[in-house]
Amino acid sequence: MDRDATRPVETTARQIRHHVYSGKCRDDLLEPTDTKGAQEKEKAVKRLQELYDEGVPFFKKEVFGHILDQLTFCRANPRPPGSSAEPHMILIIAVDGTKVEIELETGRALQHNPAFPGMELVVGDPYLYYRTVQHLTETGDLPRHSRRLAYCPTRLMYPLSVRDAPTEPVAALEDIQNAFLAGVRAWEDSEDCQRLRSFFEKASLPKITKIVAFACSSMEINFGNKDQRASSRNSRSIHQHALILTLRDIILGRGGNAEKAADLQCFAQDPVYCDVDEQVLKAAGITVLRDPRGFLEVDDESVVLSFSPDIPVRQIVADIARPAVLVWNHVKSEAETAEDYAALDQKNAGTDPESSRLRDMVRDCYLEPVALDSKGKFGPFGRASVYIRRG
Ligand SMILES: C[S@@+](CC[C@H](N)C(=O)[O-])C[C@H]1O[C@@H](n2cnc3c(N)ncnc32)[C@H](O)[C@@H]1O
Repeated sequence: MDRDATRPVETTARQIRHHVYSGKCRDDLLEPTDTKGAQEKEKAVKRLQELYDEGVPFFKKEVFGHILDQLTFCRANPRPPGSSAEPHMILIIAVDGTKVEIELETGRALQHNPAFPGMELVVGDPYLYYRTVQHLTETGDLPRHSRRLAYCPTRLMYPLSVRDAPTEPVAALEDIQNAFLAGVRAWEDSEDCQRLRSFFEKASLPKITKIVAFACSSMEINFGNKDQRASSRNSRSIHQHALILTLRDIILGRGGNAEKAADLQCFAQDPVYCDVDEQVLKAAGITVLRDPRGFLEVDDESVVLSFSPDIPVRQIVADIARPAVLVWNHVKSEAETAEDYAALDQKNAGTDPESSRLRDMVRDCYLEPVALDSKGKFGPFGRASVYIRRG
């Protein structure tokens, strides 16, 4: 795969949205004919299910923090491409307590699609990659099983940049700022927003000191795109960020908990944010966090927001905290999930699947959920619900 590791990374490299790389460990997947590997996998799947059923958390703040500390050190001491120094190694603590070392691949050059001769991909600064119990115990095709990382729900994922790609114009800060402000006004004027406000006015709320939003996507990414699907994604992103402001306003308006803006921090984590997003959000009082810092902020005094994330936000949160309020994809019953699978003719759990632990959490610790808006799966939040923690 390596084209020429000694070539310096050029500064013209730019991120290609949604192109990611999970590292060399993906090359360690089983071959379909590997019978010894199949037995190892069977053993691992059985043990992982036992650990899950025993209640062992698959996601832990300590593990996130441990990896983050190592990444922070590596970022401060980069290995320039072509240097003779050994690559940095990252130690990951697996769910069974064992330790796995993987190479940090930032700066590595990979071959691009042969359809684009002369271009290559550059491996960027990683964020965390979260694998659910379903992903780790999938019994589908053999090659999806990584032997080295079998017991690691937390791994690394890298964004990729393309070198020497033609530059696309980036929307101006002012355009995105105006689109966001117009979106906030439209959302605030909507009946759904009014209904949400009156629901929260009457609700009894636990103490809240922060709002942490995940995966609300970039407001810049599809800006101005006439394609209906693209512009709907852009509008979803604007609505989801607007909701952070509405919730902040509601909570501050109620007093008792956070009484002034400084007491109620607002955070947003999504690796796809560009500089323009970050500036617009900053102006609105929302701080962008790099993965996994959003998860490290989540605690029992938080409001957590998340809509159709590419990562299992709900299973991670169920392992690390009991936030005051959850505003996220409706947690489906086992029967509903089975119906979905049947309708879609698929067994793939998706990126943010329900789990028994997640269902137990909302049943035991939260009040009956209330639909976030009237449009359900066709609206800007998908089918989402509000869960308030019981007294
Ligand atoms: C399918 S899109 C959904 C976007 C938006 N919430 C919506 O409803 O249209 C999934 C989002 O998850 C984000 N994502 C991927 N990895 C993430 C991470 N580690 N932390 C937070 N967000 C992440 C992606 O960048 C993307 O914006």
